[in-house]
Amino acid sequence: MTGPPLLHRLPEQYFTRILGAVAAAQAEPGPRVIDLGRGNPDLPPPPHAVAALRDAAAELTIPMHGYPKFQGEPDLRAAIAGRYRADHGVVLDPDTEVAVVPGTKTGIMFATLATAGPGDVVLLPDPGYPDYHSAIALADADEVALPLEASAGHQPDFDAVPRADRERTRLLVLNYPSNPCAVCAAPGTLDAAVAFAHAHGCVVLNDLAYGFLAYDGRRAASVLESPGARDVAIELWSASKVYGMAGWRVGFAVGAAPVVARIKALVDHLTAGVFTGIQRGLLAALSGDQGHVEERRAVYLRRRDALVASLRAAGAEIDAPEGTFYAWWRPPEGLTPERLLREHRVAVAPGEGFGARGAGWVRLSFALAEEDLAEGGARLAAAVAETVASR
Ligand SMILES: Cc1ncc(COP(=O)(O)O)c(C=O)c1O
Repeated sequence: MTGPPLLHRLPEQYFTRILGAVAAAQAEPGPRVIDLGRGNPDLPPPPHAVAALRDAAAELTIPMHGYPKFQGEPDLRAAIAGRYRADHGVVLDPDTEVAVVPGTKTGIMFATLATAGPGDVVLLPDPGYPDYHSAIALADADEVALPLEASAGHQPDFDAVPRADRERTRLLVLNYPSNPCAVCAAPGTLDAAVAFAHAHGCVVLNDLAYGFLAYDGRRAASVLESPGARDVAIELWSASKVYGMAGWRVGFAVGAAPVVARIKALVDHLTAGVFTGIQRGLLAALSGDQGHVEERRAVYLRRRDALVASLRAAGAEIDAPEGTFYAWWRPPEGLTPERLLREHRVAVAPGEGFGARGAGWVRLSFALAEEDLAEGGARLAAAVAETVASR
Protein backbone atom coordinates (compact mmCIF):
# COMPACT_ATOMS: atom_id res chain seq x y z
CA MET A 1 0.00 0.00 0.00
CA THR A 2 1.20 3.53 -0.74
CA GLY A 3 0.92 6.47 1.70
CA PRO A 4 2.63 7.39 4.97
CA PRO A 5 5.17 4.89 6.39
CA LEU A 6 2.89 3.06 8.85
CA LEU A 7 0.40 2.22 6.11
CA HIS A 8 3.22 0.50 4.23
CA ARG A 9 3.41 -1.97 7.07
CA LEU A 10 -0.24 -2.99 6.82
CA PRO A 11 -0.48 -6.51 5.42
CA GLU A 12 -2.95 -7.33 2.69
CA GLN A 13 -6.33 -7.90 4.38
CA TYR A 14 -6.53 -11.69 4.33
CA PHE A 15 -10.31 -12.03 4.22
CA THR A 16 -10.64 -9.38 1.49
CA ARG A 17 -8.25 -11.48 -0.60
CA ILE A 18 -10.24 -14.68 0.02
CA LEU A 19 -13.51 -12.96 -0.86
CA GLY A 20 -11.92 -11.79 -4.11
CA ALA A 21 -10.80 -15.32 -5.01
CA VAL A 22 -14.28 -16.71 -4.28
CA ALA A 23 -15.98 -13.97 -6.34
CA ALA A 24 -13.61 -14.68 -9.27
CA ALA A 25 -14.39 -18.42 -9.11
CA GLN A 26 -18.12 -17.70 -8.80
CA ALA A 27 -18.00 -15.65 -12.00
CA GLU A 28 -16.69 -18.66 -13.94
CA PRO A 29 -19.11 -21.19 -15.44
CA GLY A 30 -19.99 -24.11 -13.18
CA PRO A 31 -22.03 -24.94 -10.09
CA ARG A 32 -22.37 -22.25 -7.42
CA VAL A 33 -19.27 -22.06 -5.20
CA ILE A 34 -19.95 -23.08 -1.59
CA ASP A 35 -17.95 -20.80 0.67
CA LEU A 36 -16.62 -22.53 3.79
CA GLY A 37 -13.89 -19.89 4.08
CA ARG A 38 -15.82 -17.10 5.76
CA GLY A 39 -16.66 -16.70 9.43
CA ASN A 40 -19.72 -14.49 9.08
CA PRO A 41 -22.30 -15.53 11.72
CA ASP A 42 -25.48 -16.57 9.91
CA LEU A 43 -27.94 -16.73 12.84
CA PRO A 44 -29.95 -13.56 13.63
CA PRO A 45 -29.75 -11.53 16.86
CA PRO A 46 -32.21 -12.29 19.69
CA PRO A 47 -35.58 -10.63 18.91
CA HIS A 48 -35.64 -8.71 22.21
CA ALA A 49 -32.29 -7.09 21.32
CA VAL A 50 -33.57 -6.08 17.88
CA ALA A 51 -36.74 -4.68 19.50
CA ALA A 52 -34.63 -2.61 21.91
CA LEU A 53 -32.59 -1.22 19.01
CA ARG A 54 -35.75 -0.45 17.01
CA ASP A 55 -37.44 1.30 19.95
CA ALA A 56 -34.29 3.28 20.63
CA ALA A 57 -34.02 4.39 17.00
CA ALA A 58 -37.64 5.60 17.15
CA GLU A 59 -36.84 7.91 20.10
CA LEU A 60 -36.33 11.21 18.34
CA THR A 61 -34.24 12.82 21.06
CA ILE A 62 -30.78 14.33 21.24
CA PRO A 63 -29.52 11.84 23.87
CA MET A 64 -30.47 9.04 21.49
CA HIS A 65 -29.32 10.44 18.16
CA GLY A 66 -26.69 12.92 19.29
CA TYR A 67 -23.13 11.96 20.13
CA PRO A 68 -23.18 8.95 22.44
CA LYS A 69 -21.47 8.90 25.80
CA PHE A 70 -17.89 8.21 24.69
CA GLN A 71 -17.36 5.76 27.54
CA GLY A 72 -20.61 3.87 27.02
CA GLU A 73 -23.92 4.02 28.87
CA PRO A 74 -23.47 3.31 32.60
CA ASP A 75 -26.25 0.70 32.56
CA LEU A 76 -24.54 -1.14 29.68
CA ARG A 77 -21.23 -1.20 31.59
CA ALA A 78 -23.10 -2.49 34.64
CA ALA A 79 -24.74 -5.22 32.51
CA ILE A 80 -21.32 -6.23 31.15
CA ALA A 81 -20.04 -6.55 34.71
CA GLY A 82 -23.18 -8.57 35.51
CA ARG A 83 -22.48 -11.01 32.65
CA TYR A 84 -18.89 -11.53 33.78
CA ARG A 85 -20.07 -12.23 37.32
CA ALA A 86 -22.66 -14.72 36.08
CA ASP A 87 -20.51 -16.40 33.40
CA HIS A 88 -17.07 -16.34 35.03
CA GLY A 89 -17.48 -15.45 38.71
CA VAL A 90 -15.34 -12.37 37.99
CA VAL A 91 -16.35 -9.12 39.71
CA LEU A 92 -15.54 -6.04 37.59
CA ASP A 93 -15.77 -2.36 38.45
CA PRO A 94 -17.99 -1.00 35.64
CA ASP A 95 -16.34 2.42 35.87
CA THR A 96 -12.67 1.45 35.73
CA GLU A 97 -12.49 -2.08 34.34
CA VAL A 98 -14.92 -1.98 31.40
CA ALA A 99 -14.56 -0.16 28.05
CA VAL A 100 -17.23 -0.34 25.32
CA VAL A 101 -15.58 -0.60 21.89
CA PRO A 102 -16.91 -0.63 18.32
CA GLY A 103 -16.21 -4.34 17.76
CA THR A 104 -13.34 -6.57 18.77
CA LYS A 105 -11.40 -5.76 15.61
CA THR A 106 -11.16 -2.16 16.81
CA GLY A 107 -10.58 -3.46 20.34
CA ILE A 108 -7.52 -5.39 19.12
CA MET A 109 -6.19 -2.21 17.56
CA PHE A 110 -6.82 -0.19 20.73
CA ALA A 111 -5.35 -2.81 23.05
CA THR A 112 -2.21 -3.02 20.91
CA LEU A 113 -1.80 0.75 20.65
CA ALA A 114 -2.39 0.95 24.42
CA THR A 115 0.45 -1.41 25.25
CA ALA A 116 3.10 -1.57 22.52
CA GLY A 117 5.12 0.84 20.39
CA PRO A 118 8.33 0.96 18.37
CA GLY A 119 10.96 -1.46 19.71
CA ASP A 120 8.41 -3.47 21.70
CA VAL A 121 7.53 -7.08 20.97
CA VAL A 122 3.99 -8.44 20.72
CA LEU A 123 3.74 -12.23 20.95
CA LEU A 124 1.14 -13.57 18.55
CA PRO A 125 -0.37 -17.05 18.36
CA ASP A 126 0.76 -18.91 15.24
CA PRO A 127 -1.62 -20.01 13.79
CA GLY A 128 -3.78 -17.05 14.79
CA TYR A 129 -6.37 -14.54 13.66
CA PRO A 130 -4.81 -12.46 10.84
CA ASP A 131 -5.95 -9.03 12.02
CA TYR A 132 -3.53 -9.08 14.97
CA HIS A 133 -0.76 -8.33 12.45
CA SER A 134 -2.52 -5.19 11.26
CA ALA A 135 -2.68 -3.79 14.79
CA ILE A 136 1.04 -4.39 15.31
CA ALA A 137 1.81 -2.68 12.00
CA LEU A 138 -0.09 0.45 13.04
CA ALA A 139 1.52 0.42 16.50
CA ASP A 140 4.90 0.12 14.71
CA ALA A 141 5.82 -2.66 17.13
CA ASP A 142 7.61 -5.95 16.36
CA GLU A 143 5.77 -9.24 16.24
CA VAL A 144 7.15 -12.57 17.36
CA ALA A 145 5.31 -15.82 16.71
CA LEU A 146 4.14 -17.88 19.68
CA PRO A 147 3.99 -21.35 18.14
CA LEU A 148 0.82 -23.38 18.71
CA GLU A 149 1.98 -26.84 17.64
CA ALA A 150 -0.64 -29.44 16.77
CA SER A 151 1.42 -31.96 18.78
CA ALA A 152 0.90 -29.74 21.86
CA GLY A 153 -2.84 -29.44 21.29
CA HIS A 154 -2.30 -25.92 19.89
CA GLN A 155 -1.25 -24.64 23.34
CA PRO A 156 1.74 -22.30 23.74
CA ASP A 157 5.03 -23.18 25.41
CA PHE A 158 6.07 -19.95 27.16
CA ASP A 159 9.41 -21.42 28.20
CA ALA A 160 10.34 -21.67 24.52
CA VAL A 161 10.08 -17.90 23.94
CA PRO A 162 13.68 -16.71 23.37
CA ARG A 163 15.07 -14.67 26.26
CA ALA A 164 15.78 -11.58 24.09
CA ASP A 165 12.15 -11.54 22.90
CA ARG A 166 10.78 -12.05 26.40
CA GLU A 167 12.63 -8.98 27.63
CA ARG A 168 11.07 -6.80 24.94
CA THR A 169 7.57 -8.28 25.15
CA ARG A 170 4.89 -5.75 26.11
CA LEU A 171 1.84 -7.67 24.94
CA LEU A 172 1.04 -11.37 24.76
CA VAL A 173 -2.01 -12.20 22.65
CA LEU A 174 -4.05 -15.36 23.14
CA ASN A 175 -7.34 -16.36 21.59
CA TYR A 176 -9.18 -19.27 23.16
CA PRO A 177 -11.44 -20.77 21.91
CA SER A 178 -9.03 -20.45 19.02
CA ASN A 179 -9.65 -19.14 15.55
CA PRO A 180 -8.45 -21.00 13.53
CA CYS A 181 -7.31 -23.99 15.65
CA ALA A 182 -10.81 -24.58 17.11
CA VAL A 183 -9.47 -25.70 20.50
CA CYS A 184 -10.18 -24.36 23.98
CA ALA A 185 -7.46 -23.32 26.40
CA ALA A 186 -6.09 -26.41 28.15
CA PRO A 187 -6.11 -26.37 31.95
CA GLY A 188 -3.14 -24.25 32.97
CA THR A 189 -2.65 -22.31 29.70
CA LEU A 190 -4.29 -19.09 30.88
CA ASP A 191 -2.67 -19.31 34.33
CA ALA A 192 0.73 -19.78 32.67
CA ALA A 193 0.10 -16.74 30.47
CA VAL A 194 -0.67 -14.61 33.51
CA ALA A 195 2.45 -15.88 35.28
CA PHE A 196 4.49 -15.05 32.15
CA ALA A 197 3.06 -11.51 32.16
CA HIS A 198 4.03 -11.01 35.81
CA ALA A 199 7.50 -12.41 35.23
CA HIS A 200 8.21 -10.25 32.17
CA GLY A 201 6.24 -7.08 32.88
CA CYS A 202 3.86 -7.40 29.94
CA VAL A 203 0.09 -7.44 29.43
CA VAL A 204 -1.89 -10.54 28.43
CA LEU A 205 -4.76 -10.05 26.04
CA ASN A 206 -7.21 -12.92 25.62
CA ASP A 207 -9.52 -12.52 22.65
CA LEU A 208 -12.72 -14.23 23.80
CA ALA A 209 -14.65 -13.60 20.56
CA TYR A 210 -15.94 -17.22 20.66
CA GLY A 211 -16.38 -17.44 24.41
CA PHE A 212 -19.82 -19.05 24.23
CA LEU A 213 -18.85 -21.69 21.68
CA ALA A 214 -17.28 -24.59 23.57
CA TYR A 215 -18.56 -28.12 23.05
CA ASP A 216 -18.74 -31.50 24.75
CA GLY A 217 -19.04 -30.18 28.29
CA ARG A 218 -16.15 -27.72 27.96
CA ARG A 219 -16.41 -24.15 29.20
CA ALA A 220 -14.38 -21.27 27.79
CA ALA A 221 -12.70 -19.69 30.81
CA SER A 222 -11.98 -15.99 31.07
CA VAL A 223 -8.32 -15.11 31.56
CA LEU A 224 -9.57 -12.90 34.40
CA GLU A 225 -10.38 -16.06 36.36
CA SER A 226 -6.64 -16.81 36.66
CA PRO A 227 -4.86 -15.86 39.88
CA GLY A 228 -3.18 -12.46 39.62
CA ALA A 229 -4.86 -11.65 36.30
CA ARG A 230 -6.49 -8.42 37.39
CA ASP A 231 -3.17 -6.53 37.36
CA VAL A 232 -1.91 -7.70 34.00
CA ALA A 233 -4.71 -9.14 31.86
CA ILE A 234 -7.42 -7.80 29.64
CA GLU A 235 -10.02 -9.60 27.64
CA LEU A 236 -11.89 -8.68 24.49
CA TRP A 237 -15.49 -9.75 24.18
CA SER A 238 -17.51 -9.55 20.96
CA ALA A 239 -21.28 -9.39 20.39
CA SER A 240 -20.74 -10.54 16.79
CA LYS A 241 -20.89 -14.31 17.27
CA VAL A 242 -22.70 -14.84 20.55
CA TYR A 243 -25.62 -12.62 19.56
CA GLY A 244 -25.27 -12.63 15.74
CA MET A 245 -24.57 -8.88 15.76
CA ALA A 246 -21.45 -8.74 13.55
CA GLY A 247 -22.85 -5.80 11.60
CA TRP A 248 -23.62 -3.84 14.76
CA ARG A 249 -19.91 -3.37 15.49
CA VAL A 250 -19.94 -3.55 19.25
CA GLY A 251 -17.99 -5.35 21.93
CA PHE A 252 -16.00 -4.54 25.03
CA ALA A 253 -12.62 -4.73 26.71
CA VAL A 254 -12.44 -5.66 30.39
CA GLY A 255 -9.70 -6.18 32.95
CA ALA A 256 -6.59 -4.35 34.17
CA ALA A 257 -7.74 -0.80 34.95
CA PRO A 258 -4.63 1.05 33.67
CA VAL A 259 -4.93 -0.63 30.26
CA VAL A 260 -8.70 -0.10 30.15
CA ALA A 261 -8.10 3.62 30.90
CA ARG A 262 -5.77 3.85 27.89
CA ILE A 263 -8.29 2.06 25.68
CA LYS A 264 -10.96 4.53 26.80
CA ALA A 265 -8.67 7.43 25.90
CA LEU A 266 -8.27 5.95 22.42
CA VAL A 267 -12.06 5.61 22.14
CA ASP A 268 -12.41 9.30 23.09
CA HIS A 269 -9.95 10.36 20.43
CA LEU A 270 -10.69 7.95 17.61
CA THR A 271 -14.25 6.63 17.55
CA ALA A 272 -16.18 8.76 20.07
CA GLY A 273 -18.33 5.91 21.30
CA VAL A 274 -20.99 3.62 19.85
CA PHE A 275 -24.53 4.67 18.76
CA THR A 276 -26.69 4.71 21.88
CA GLY A 277 -29.39 2.58 20.16
CA ILE A 278 -26.86 -0.18 19.57
CA GLN A 279 -25.81 0.01 23.20
CA ARG A 280 -29.47 -0.39 24.19
CA GLY A 281 -29.76 -3.46 21.95
CA LEU A 282 -26.64 -4.99 23.45
CA LEU A 283 -27.88 -4.18 26.95
CA ALA A 284 -31.10 -6.07 26.20
CA ALA A 285 -29.12 -9.04 24.87
CA LEU A 286 -26.74 -9.16 27.83
CA SER A 287 -29.33 -8.75 30.53
CA GLY A 288 -32.17 -10.75 28.94
CA ASP A 289 -32.79 -14.47 28.75
CA GLN A 290 -29.65 -16.31 27.57
CA GLY A 291 -31.64 -19.30 26.27
CA HIS A 292 -30.99 -18.27 22.66
CA VAL A 293 -27.23 -18.53 23.30
CA GLU A 294 -27.75 -22.16 24.24
CA GLU A 295 -29.87 -22.68 21.10
CA ARG A 296 -27.18 -21.12 18.95
CA ARG A 297 -24.54 -23.38 20.46
CA ALA A 298 -26.77 -26.41 19.77
CA VAL A 299 -27.12 -25.38 16.10
CA TYR A 300 -23.36 -25.06 15.67
CA LEU A 301 -22.78 -28.34 17.48
CA ARG A 302 -25.16 -30.14 15.12
CA ARG A 303 -23.38 -28.62 12.12
CA ARG A 304 -19.96 -29.49 13.54
CA ASP A 305 -20.97 -33.10 13.95
CA ALA A 306 -22.40 -33.30 10.42
CA LEU A 307 -19.29 -31.80 8.82
CA VAL A 308 -16.85 -33.95 10.78
CA ALA A 309 -18.91 -37.09 10.11
CA SER A 310 -19.03 -36.49 6.34
CA LEU A 311 -15.27 -35.95 6.15
CA ARG A 312 -14.44 -38.94 8.33
CA ALA A 313 -16.79 -41.14 6.28
CA ALA A 314 -14.73 -40.21 3.21
CA GLY A 315 -11.53 -41.31 4.94
CA ALA A 316 -10.30 -37.89 6.10
CA GLU A 317 -8.56 -37.42 9.42
CA ILE A 318 -9.99 -34.46 11.27
CA ASP A 319 -10.20 -33.49 14.94
CA ALA A 320 -13.66 -32.60 16.20
CA PRO A 321 -13.53 -28.86 17.02
CA GLU A 322 -13.60 -28.18 20.78
CA GLY A 323 -14.96 -24.68 20.23
CA THR A 324 -15.74 -21.87 17.70
CA PHE A 325 -17.64 -22.47 14.46
CA TYR A 326 -14.56 -23.59 12.56
CA ALA A 327 -12.76 -26.84 11.92
CA TRP A 328 -8.99 -26.81 11.47
CA TRP A 329 -8.06 -29.50 9.03
CA ARG A 330 -4.99 -30.82 7.25
CA PRO A 331 -6.35 -32.15 3.92
CA PRO A 332 -4.63 -35.13 2.33
CA GLU A 333 -1.44 -34.33 0.41
CA GLY A 334 -2.25 -32.74 -2.96
CA LEU A 335 -5.73 -31.52 -2.06
CA THR A 336 -4.92 -27.81 -2.05
CA PRO A 337 -7.35 -24.91 -1.47
CA GLU A 338 -6.85 -23.93 -5.13
CA ARG A 339 -7.86 -27.41 -6.30
CA LEU A 340 -10.84 -27.46 -3.99
CA LEU A 341 -12.02 -24.15 -5.39
CA ARG A 342 -11.27 -24.83 -9.06
CA GLU A 343 -12.25 -28.47 -9.38
CA HIS A 344 -14.78 -28.95 -6.58
CA ARG A 345 -16.26 -25.45 -6.31
CA VAL A 346 -15.80 -25.25 -2.57
CA ALA A 347 -13.89 -22.40 -0.93
CA VAL A 348 -11.86 -22.85 2.26
CA ALA A 349 -9.56 -20.46 4.14
CA PRO A 350 -5.94 -21.44 3.31
CA GLY A 351 -4.04 -22.09 6.53
CA GLU A 352 -0.92 -20.10 5.71
CA GLY A 353 -3.00 -16.91 6.01
CA PHE A 354 -3.10 -17.64 9.76
CA GLY A 355 0.68 -17.88 10.14
CA ALA A 356 3.65 -19.99 9.07
CA ARG A 357 2.41 -22.93 11.16
CA GLY A 358 -0.85 -22.94 9.21
CA ALA A 359 0.87 -24.10 6.01
CA GLY A 360 -0.76 -27.30 4.75
CA TRP A 361 -3.89 -26.69 6.85
CA VAL A 362 -7.23 -25.12 5.98
CA ARG A 363 -9.98 -23.56 8.06
CA LEU A 364 -13.54 -24.68 7.38
CA SER A 365 -16.43 -22.60 8.68
CA PHE A 366 -19.78 -24.01 9.68
CA ALA A 367 -21.39 -20.59 10.02
CA LEU A 368 -23.55 -21.05 6.94
CA ALA A 369 -26.98 -22.36 6.00
CA GLU A 370 -27.35 -26.08 6.66
CA GLU A 371 -28.19 -26.99 3.03
CA ASP A 372 -25.03 -25.20 1.90
CA LEU A 373 -22.98 -26.83 4.63
CA ALA A 374 -24.30 -30.26 3.65
CA GLU A 375 -23.45 -29.58 -0.01
CA GLY A 376 -20.01 -28.18 0.90
CA GLY A 377 -19.33 -31.18 3.16
CA ALA A 378 -20.37 -33.56 0.37
CA ARG A 379 -18.05 -31.84 -2.11
CA LEU A 380 -15.15 -31.97 0.35
CA ALA A 381 -15.86 -35.63 1.04
CA ALA A 382 -15.90 -36.40 -2.72
CA ALA A 383 -12.61 -34.52 -3.12
CA VAL A 384 -11.02 -36.50 -0.28
CA ALA A 385 -12.28 -39.82 -1.61
CA GLU A 386 -10.94 -38.98 -5.10
CA THR A 387 -7.55 -37.92 -3.72
CA VAL A 388 -7.19 -41.01 -1.53
CA ALA A 389 -8.27 -43.32 -4.40
CA SER A 390 -5.75 -41.77 -6.82
CA ARG A 391 -2.78 -42.83 -4.66
C1 LIG B 1 -10.56 -14.27 16.92
C2 LIG B 1 -11.37 -13.11 16.44
N1 LIG B 1 -11.23 -11.94 17.05
C3 LIG B 1 -11.94 -10.88 16.66
C4 LIG B 1 -12.83 -10.94 15.62
C5 LIG B 1 -13.58 -9.72 15.21
O1 LIG B 1 -14.73 -9.60 15.96
P1 LIG B 1 -15.65 -8.31 15.90
O2 LIG B 1 -16.75 -8.61 14.94
O3 LIG B 1 -16.14 -8.11 17.29
O4 LIG B 1 -14.81 -7.17 15.43
C6 LIG B 1 -13.01 -12.14 14.96
C7 LIG B 1 -13.95 -12.24 13.83
O5 LIG B 1 -13.99 -13.15 13.07
C8 LIG B 1 -12.26 -13.26 15.38
O6 LIG B 1 -12.38 -14.44 14.76
